[in-house]
Amino acid sequence: MTLEPAIMLIFGSTGDLSHKKLYPALYALHAANRLADNTVVLGIGRRDWDDGRYRESIAAAVRSAEPAAEKTMADFTGRFFYHCLDMSDKTAYNSLWHKAGQLEKLHHLQGNRLYFLATAPDHFPLITRQLGLGQPAIPGCFRRLMIEKPFGADLSTARAFNKQLRQVFAEDEIFRIDHYLGKEMLQNILVLRFANQLFEPAWNCHHIDHIQVSVTEPFGIEQRAGYYDKSGALRDMVQSHLLQLVALLTMDQPSGEQADDIRDAKVRLLRAIRLFSREAAETDVVMGQYDGDERRRPYLKEDGIPPDSRTETYAALRLWIDQGRWQGVPVYVRTGKRLQRHLAKITIVFKEPSYDIQDQDDRRNILVIRIQPEEGIDLRFNIKQPGMTNAVTQARMNICQNCDPLTQSPQAYEKLIHDAWQGDLSLFTRWDEIEATWTLIDSIRLWRAKLPLYLYRSGSDGPVAADRMLERDGRAWLDL
Ligand code: BG6
Repeated sequence: MTLEPAIMLIFGSTGDLSHKKLYPALYALHAANRLADNTVVLGIGRRDWDDGRYRESIAAAVRSAEPAAEKTMADFTGRFFYHCLDMSDKTAYNSLWHKAGQLEKLHHLQGNRLYFLATAPDHFPLITRQLGLGQPAIPGCFRRLMIEKPFGADLSTARAFNKQLRQVFAEDEIFRIDHYLGKEMLQNILVLRFANQLFEPAWNCHHIDHIQVSVTEPFGIEQRAGYYDKSGALRDMVQSHLLQLVALLTMDQPSGEQADDIRDAKVRLLRAIRLFSREAAETDVVMGQYDGDERRRPYLKEDGIPPDSRTETYAALRLWIDQGRWQGVPVYVRTGKRLQRHLAKITIVFKEPSYDIQDQDDRRNILVIRIQPEEGIDLRFNIKQPGMTNAVTQARMNICQNCDPLTQSPQAYEKLIHDAWQGDLSLFTRWDEIEATWTLIDSIRLWRAKLPLYLYRSGSDGPVAADRMLERDGRAWLDL
């Protein structure tokens, strides 16, 4: 289905995110004929570029993500226009409104606008204020704002930004991005849980022993020292992506299918995650920072990182959910940079069966939800070994969704831009989710200076202390 004609304005259009994620996503929408013929994109940036230079950089970005993209490239880049703007200069915005208005006139657009903020977060408050004040919605047309994470740096800065945002935008015009929600397998969690009578009745403390969530990356901070050193793994990954994953995995069934039904269920769960006291932080939080190896520099020697930085590039937590359904079921989450593997997955470990099984090391049912790079579901269960024996063996049902090149899922940003364009808020975070997640992260960060920061070797599995956290409970991170 073709999306309503609109102008999309991208702030931060010459940056990394736009090139790596937005242009390939827009190209996919264009190639699938989802963009109306007269839809145009106005890129806004500080660099002194013109339309030609901008279009070349877009074509290069799309080609590197999608080598087969050549055929309709000229049509695609022809939709893009560039406007150079000093975003911190309030007086400069008039020229932008003028340019946007001209484009709308030229392309017979009625006033639908999709704004995308892909700049450094420091610019968000000023830009959104200028947008809200300078460009009110036109009756009968939509005005939607997509905002990249991070939404604030803690609860108080997030609150202040949200308050300011709400003075100029209504909640249903604000599309706060957590791009993990656009990933195919995160959307699949709800279907897997609630559309299968097989799983949901067992999805509780009577049947589940514990849950593991791992999001690990082999690369370091790349060119993002300025942002990352102020952020760290807790703010960069846990507050957003990992807690969203935990919420989808453990929330109750939403009361309906509307965006707010799903978000209500998530908020109830996020608020039920136990906050960290000092004692809990000491036992249930492990933070680490990467050291170098033969080939790579340690975090402290990365360009732009202060030599005494205590920013964590790894975090592992043991979470408890204070709800009857999850009593006594720990949720272990971990994430880090410069680790051995590049993957995101969830492992649900069921309790030992009561049936007497001999000769079998691990008799527990285990469900692995693979998010990336492989997308799929992997279930382990016990069967009798065929033949004249009573021995039991573990069987495996493994479904890989993206192993076939013909069944590739849409990229997260393609889905998110598409949904925001349609006004569907289901995959975007509501303010009260942000509030609940920052409250949790602040409860850890309060004790941060008192907690150890373990060095771990680049290319390893992270600090040994994270293994010990599970060993104390008689468990281990599972490498399945
Ligand atoms: C971003 C973080 O939100 O997510 C990055 O800022 C991280 O530090 C990235 O690398 C991971 O996203 P993905 O989709 O590559 O797993």
